[in-house]
Amino acid sequence: MKIFLDTAILDEIKTAASWGILDGVTTNPTLAARAGRSFKENILAISEIIGDRGTVSAETVSTDVEGMVEEARLVTSWAPNIVAKIPCTPNGLAATRRLAEEGVRVNMTLVFNATQGLLAMKAGAFYVSPFIGRIDDAGQDGMEVVRQLVEIKHLYGFQTEVLAASIRHPMHVVQAALAGADIATMPFKVLTQIVKHPLTDVGLQRFLDDWRSIPEDMRPF
Ligand code: E4P
Repeated sequence: MKIFLDTAILDEIKTAASWGILDGVTTNPTLAARAGRSFKENILAISEIIGDRGTVSAETVSTDVEGMVEEARLVTSWAPNIVAKIPCTPNGLAATRRLAEEGVRVNMTLVFNATQGLLAMKAGAFYVSPFIGRIDDAGQDGMEVVRQLVEIKHLYGFQTEVLAASIRHPMHVVQAALAGADIATMPFKVLTQIVKHPLTDVGLQRFLDDWRSIPEDMRPF
């Protein structure tokens, strides 16, 4: 499963990239607003950090087909690793179909059930993003939508990658991996949580202390 960071904060992206496990970044208008700089400048800076290790999703804000298509063409022209994020609406589906025919990659976002996800796949979306946390917030099982989309994808041979989004805690990451999601995108806080374990820190400290108890001339470093 690929690991994406759901943020527009460069320091977070640089840190995660330095850990060697980052496969891409997703952003949205809310995250872009928090970055506090020009949208294009910030997306380009993220795109440069990610390079050829993966993709960067940049969201369109028009709600009509023409506007979505134009904005998607624009953001994806900035760098080869940029994917256009388009909401799952009737216009979003129409725009996605047109863009897919032109070879423009679309991340279909704001997907809240399997039928929306199925339509995103049929429209030719490159990624389909079910919003796990927000579905859970509405009293339903967000991960069930991921499981259903993974099954639908394999049953019908769709190429679309299932991107588990709106991840809120480490168990969402585990469940997305077990469900067969192609990608999980998560806030930096969750990525940090899945890297760290208190027993790793305690165990490491004990190993280091014991190592130092070996006389210096009996150890190579
Ligand atoms: C995904 O692409 C979205 O940007 C994101 O995961 C939304 O997460 P939220 O529900 O925590 O805002």
